[in-house]
Amino acid sequence: MSVLIKGGRVITAADDYVGDVYVEGERISLIGESLDVAADRVVDASGKYVLPGCVDPHTHLDMPFGGTVTIDDVESGQTSAAFGGTTCHVDFIIQPQGSTFGEAFDEWKSKAEGKQVIDMGYHMAVTDLKDGGTLEELATLPEQGITSYKLFMAYKGALMVDDETLFRTMQVAAETGALVMVHAENGDAIDVLVKDALAAGHTEPKYHALTRPPETEGEATNRAIQLARVAGSPLYVVHVSCRESVEPIARARDAGWNIHGETCTQYLFVDYTFLERPNFEGAKWVYTPPPRDKANQDILWNAVRTDVLSVISTDHCAFRWDGQKTIGRDDFSKIPNGGPGIENRLHMIHEFGARTGRITLNRMVELLATNPAKLFGLYPRKGTIAVGSDADIVIFDPEKRHTLSASTHHSKVDYNLFEGTAVTGAVELVLLRGQVLVDGDELVAKPGVGQLVERARFGEELKAERVPA
Ligand code: URP
Ligand code: ZN
Ligand code: ZN
Repeated sequence: MSVLIKGGRVITAADDYVGDVYVEGERISLIGESLDVAADRVVDASGKYVLPGCVDPHTHLDMPFGGTVTIDDVESGQTSAAFGGTTCHVDFIIQPQGSTFGEAFDEWKSKAEGKQVIDMGYHMAVTDLKDGGTLEELATLPEQGITSYKLFMAYKGALMVDDETLFRTMQVAAETGALVMVHAENGDAIDVLVKDALAAGHTEPKYHALTRPPETEGEATNRAIQLARVAGSPLYVVHVSCRESVEPIARARDAGWNIHGETCTQYLFVDYTFLERPNFEGAKWVYTPPPRDKANQDILWNAVRTDVLSVISTDHCAFRWDGQKTIGRDDFSKIPNGGPGIENRLHMIHEFGARTGRITLNRMVELLATNPAKLFGLYPRKGTIAVGSDADIVIFDPEKRHTLSASTHHSKVDYNLFEGTAVTGAVELVLLRGQVLVDGDELVAKPGVGQLVERARFGEELKAERVPA
């Protein structure tokens, strides 16, 4: 199968030009002006953007959490991603307490079997180094293409690890070339605040935020940065939500330390007041860290613009409002933590980032595709448009108006974080390794088309096995 994409505006992290892109088999084999080559399919992309498929490095599909399981499995979550222009994501294996990492990997692979719509990789969330996985086994994961270890510094009594586990994992990462990721919040302090709030009879969703003040995020971010320095490992701080954690990351990067951070779409748009919505509607925005005071949004936009933060992910962790979020109707601490968003990242960042001039189109591509691919060992196969790269390509109509809504999104979740938001810019056609995946409103390829990608170690490139002649 060959595809010739003609006359589109090709935008990568570095370039912006009108040209033709020729795809042969799974990869891009030629880029040029007015290419004169025969193709099985010719796509007229004039007036459209030709973007690399976006890469979402932070998602939770089919994940048991908070006494329930996320509503999107691999098939529905990845379908939703595909319609939003995301062609590759990295999901979290959560090591069940008492399980080895190998057992956990097998379990997560079986959840994906036959269901993959886009390409994917896995991070390993380490929860137990005492009765389950060992440091020796952890060290073998990069050989299997799992080149990032995640640790939760919060969720006491569930996923939270102690500092010894965090630090020992960092030491292994320093040896093996893996990237350490942290959910940075002080879980012990939050646990006390939650107990105090419940004892005082405070049960509504807004107490989710009031018991997780930004200082608890700032403290944990600082701690993780300093421990990573001692261990000599690279560090990536997930879902940065506020000034208190942006500032230590900025200082560390200024000093040239190997520290990286992401924020997520929702932190740029949703603020604390959403949690105050009546009739338990606020539960829709119970995710962690919580929505913050609005003043943080400018700080985050500035951080993504100036490369203090290098990535915008989604942290897609979807629970239905009706039947799942409502588990916590009488106790905010029982509301499953997480929000949807895998489908709307490009829409929102294009509309309110690129179109408003907060960031350039190049920077948009860098934040949504190139940097996640580079940081997580997928580049240059993913994250750019270049000869030899996988032909993961999004044709994006920058003028088409539409409104984001749960009634039209492809996730199984019954609400949309950005319900009713009108945006200009729509995904028109998506190629995954040269195959048409999405064409307008239609998912063309069948589940099973997506592949598990073995990622390269931190700082190394993922080479294609074969560059087309
Ligand atoms: O609320 C969230 N973010 N749920 C998913 C798990 C996590 O902390 O990333
Ligand atoms: Zn988290
Ligand atoms: Zn997450």
